[in-house]
Amino acid sequence: MGVEPVMRIVIKIGGSVIASPLEPERILQYSNILRTLKEEGHEIVVVVGGGKVAREFISIADRMGLADNDKDEIAILVSRLNAQLVARALREYGSKDIPSTTEEVKRLLNAGKIVVMGGLKPGITTDTVAAIVLESIGSKVLVKATDQDGIYDMDPKKFPNAKKLDRLSYSDLHKIVTQGDHKPGMHGILDPKSIQILEMQKAKVVVINGLKPDNILLVIRGRKVGTSVEAR
Ligand code: UTP
Repeated sequence: MGVEPVMRIVIKIGGSVIASPLEPERILQYSNILRTLKEEGHEIVVVVGGGKVAREFISIADRMGLADNDKDEIAILVSRLNAQLVARALREYGSKDIPSTTEEVKRLLNAGKIVVMGGLKPGITTDTVAAIVLESIGSKVLVKATDQDGIYDMDPKKFPNAKKLDRLSYSDLHKIVTQGDHKPGMHGILDPKSIQILEMQKAKVVVINGLKPDNILLVIRGRKVGTSVEAR
């Protein structure tokens, strides 16, 4: 990955980065960076997570005894609201239509927009949305902006001596990420379902610290940041 080749890029911005709580300054920083990438010719789809607000709604829905499907649908709406903030910050570069299908994603991308979206359907996370979209638009690059510096050999929130890894193969990644069924609000480095799709697509995934939005530019310019996962 370097400066020159123009790419179709999927960027997942974690809810932990811009929506836990909502961070107007950071959203504006992201919008500037996304515009820069667009001006350089890249085609971009941004998938935004639900964050703390979505988790609050899930927890309230849980206390009301609602079904998992209801919790997911409500969280999806929250992620789409977060997406609206990013899309509108992009002004004419963005679109007020937040796509709810991959067909709409393709239509908006072909219309020259930076596409911004949230969730797609119950039973998955926005990591998996990013993977589904990557496959449907034929992209080979996913940048995941999260609240950690990359992928660690152990959960850095639980183990202070966890070591950050610079490069991984998919088989290394499988060993680190534990499998588990979908639960509304589940959280991890990268959702196992998304990894399955990304591996099949032989996509390059770079997990970066999204609390520093400039990291997105560094990655696209081929600099070593975060952790990259590649098919070998
Ligand atoms: P995410 O878990 O993807 O966002 O969506 P997050 O909480 O912000 O996580 P990070 O920080 O981005 O990784 C929140 C919840 O919304 C529902 C799921 O319950 C998910 O846990 N959801 C999201 C869906 O059911 N379908 C979707 O397509 C997206």
